[in-house]
Amino acid sequence: MKFLQKSLNAKLTKSDLLIVFGCHGKKIKLPQGVKVPVSALESFVCSFGQKRITDSIKGPFQRVLMIGLGESKKIDAENIRRAAAIAVKEARKNKLESITYWVAKNYGFDAGIFGQALAEGAVMGSYRLDDFKKSTGGLKKVMFHTGEIIKRGAKRGIAIGNGNCLARRLQDTPANKMRPRDLVREARKIAKNSVSISVKVFDEGAMKKMGMGSLLSVSEGSSEPAYLIHLIHRPKAKTGKKVCFVGKGLTFDSGGISLKPSGKMHEMKYDMSGGAAVLGVFDALSSISSDVEVHGLIPASENLPDGKATKPGDLVTAYNGLKIEVLNTDAEGRLILADALAYAAKKIRPDAMVDLATLTGAVVVALGHEITGVMGNDDDLTQSLVEAGKRTSEMVWPLPIIDLHKKEMKGIVGDLRNISGPATGAGSSTGGAFLSYFVGETPWAHLDIAGSAWGAAQRDYQGGEQGTGVGVRLLIDYLESI
Ligand code: BES
Ligand code: ZN
Ligand code: ZN
Repeated sequence: MKFLQKSLNAKLTKSDLLIVFGCHGKKIKLPQGVKVPVSALESFVCSFGQKRITDSIKGPFQRVLMIGLGESKKIDAENIRRAAAIAVKEARKNKLESITYWVAKNYGFDAGIFGQALAEGAVMGSYRLDDFKKSTGGLKKVMFHTGEIIKRGAKRGIAIGNGNCLARRLQDTPANKMRPRDLVREARKIAKNSVSISVKVFDEGAMKKMGMGSLLSVSEGSSEPAYLIHLIHRPKAKTGKKVCFVGKGLTFDSGGISLKPSGKMHEMKYDMSGGAAVLGVFDALSSISSDVEVHGLIPASENLPDGKATKPGDLVTAYNGLKIEVLNTDAEGRLILADALAYAAKKIRPDAMVDLATLTGAVVVALGHEITGVMGNDDDLTQSLVEAGKRTSEMVWPLPIIDLHKKEMKGIVGDLRNISGPATGAGSSTGGAFLSYFVGETPWAHLDIAGSAWGAAQRDYQGGEQGTGVGVRLLIDYLESI
């Protein structure tokens, strides 16, 4: 799909559909030279989400789509995203190939944010996984005609929207086509297409030498080798901070010897959603500038049962020397993150570190599919992520890690165990507590995205069964805020 930008007074070129927005109580304005039947404009009150499609009787467009933004006082970024997405959906429904957004006003709303939300909604709303279907044609070109400030915002929105769509494509791709090696390929592709981004990949031999026994214990039962992917975005001027994002890249989680029930096991292709989000962030960073030095780590592995697989009760040694009793091979996310976090704390030494992981079923019980759980060792960092969540409508809610949770993760044979005792409860917090042993003194936050990564409610630009790409917009916004 091509997304193109032109200024407001540039000549309008032919396309199948013109999209215009209107606010409650205000007459919809059409570009000069475009006319629709008067009756089409009548009784259109521009309440939020209202839409009307009509033939164009003059001008370079076949049809015109009017969309209501609601009351101008109540406009927010989420409304704009959704309105923009409603338009692409309508274009797809009518099997159109090219569409043009014409936005002459920002209705008193911040023009830059208006532009960003508009483009995010259009790009995210156009997402479709059609890599594995016979091509049926469809939408090819999306044009934005806007004023200068909206245009700048929209340029950012296109990059961020594309990052979100990349994450969703990786998530939705079946696990036999999205293996650890495929995540490596995607990371290399991003680095190849960007001057500011480089990538280093550690294979199993390298990880063995480094002492990453925790990560390696998870891939033992799979014939697909594990990798640790390290992406780096280096800004032109080295003035900003250094941040590290760590994403769980478990491309299929069967549970291992502690096998999961089969009912929903196919959903475990989504267990690499944290890694997908990190790749989406870097994809966006390849098109927008940030003066933050950003590191991305993706421990990538499958978790399968096999004669060679790690058994419940086995003892493994992590990168920071801690010995872990693997009492449940299904609590594998924390095992692959442990080595990645310890590596980041020791070798990258970032000012802040955020991990994203589909870590616990418990977070789905606590917060459902619309909210990501956050916990960690730094209240300011946690709060910044909560605020970024409000701005992006990728909601984030704090959960505690208390000393009791940390104590629960102490082992009997080794230093730690990977699950708590049966009566402890607080499954998300104890997962976070386990991770806390690997971050050293680094300010750190853990985002449990097991609920928010897929299965969210329909909101025009995302939702339903498929992946949400959660984390990409959130973390780009967080980077902007520091
Ligand atoms: N990938 C799962 C977590 C998960 C479960 C995500 C359901 C989304 C939906 C993770 O590896 C896991 O299996 N966690 C266990 C931990 C338990 C054994 C302590 C869980 O949540 O049941
Ligand atoms: Zn698991
Ligand atoms: Zn898992």
